[in-house]
Amino acid sequence: MKRSAGEKAVEWIEDGMIIGLGTGSTVKYTIEKLGELVKNGLHIKGIPSSQQTKKLAQQHNIPLIDLTAEIDIDITIDGADEVDSNLYLIKGGGGALLREKIIAYHSKKVIIVVDESKIVKALGIGFPLPVEITRFGWHATKKALEQIGCTTELRTIMDEKYLTDNANYLLDCDFDRIEDPEALDIALHAIPGVVEHGLFINLVDEVIVGSRQGTITLERETVPA
Ligand code: A5P
Repeated sequence: MKRSAGEKAVEWIEDGMIIGLGTGSTVKYTIEKLGELVKNGLHIKGIPSSQQTKKLAQQHNIPLIDLTAEIDIDITIDGADEVDSNLYLIKGGGGALLREKIIAYHSKKVIIVVDESKIVKALGIGFPLPVEITRFGWHATKKALEQIGCTTELRTIMDEKYLTDNANYLLDCDFDRIEDPEALDIALHAIPGVVEHGLFINLVDEVIVGSRQGTITLERETVPA
């Protein structure tokens, strides 16, 4: 299901495009497919959203560039941890949410690739919201986050504190059910020490959903409220 969604996304790619490359096990299939197309003569340039994706794209000989003010990203293709009926997302399961959000914000079009298990009625019930925070004062930032109504867990990897590509910590914040994503976005950004969070609001144009029957594409304009 991940493969069918990931590979389908390359149908949106045209010669000469600059492409934001997301992170994760679904967009991995997009990147591998792009590698095949590059081998067969497609000219694209990629902007990776993580060290992990950078390595994968390099393995597949996809030319990479940095995001600068002169760059217009034609399309970003990325995965997600949850997708609701407004095509709002929770992202950051792979720890790359900050760069992913910067790239998505500066893209003319954002396409998300997921398997059907990622489609949810409300965000936050099945997946905690990742929040990237500075290392300085992180205990205090954690307390401030808990005061707005969640339980938090500092992400670790092999018993060490997890560090993002930007050398920050990640707190996985369980809000149970996120009733008002817009209000939560504002509340989170009001806390000093919060660098960015994994709620993607009004950033997505289309979601390609892989299922056993094939893929379907949800478009922002056609999704019922
Ligand atoms: C990376 O930080 C995340 O936002 C991923 O894009 C997200 O976790 C989806 O990953 P999978 O495609 O591996 O489920």
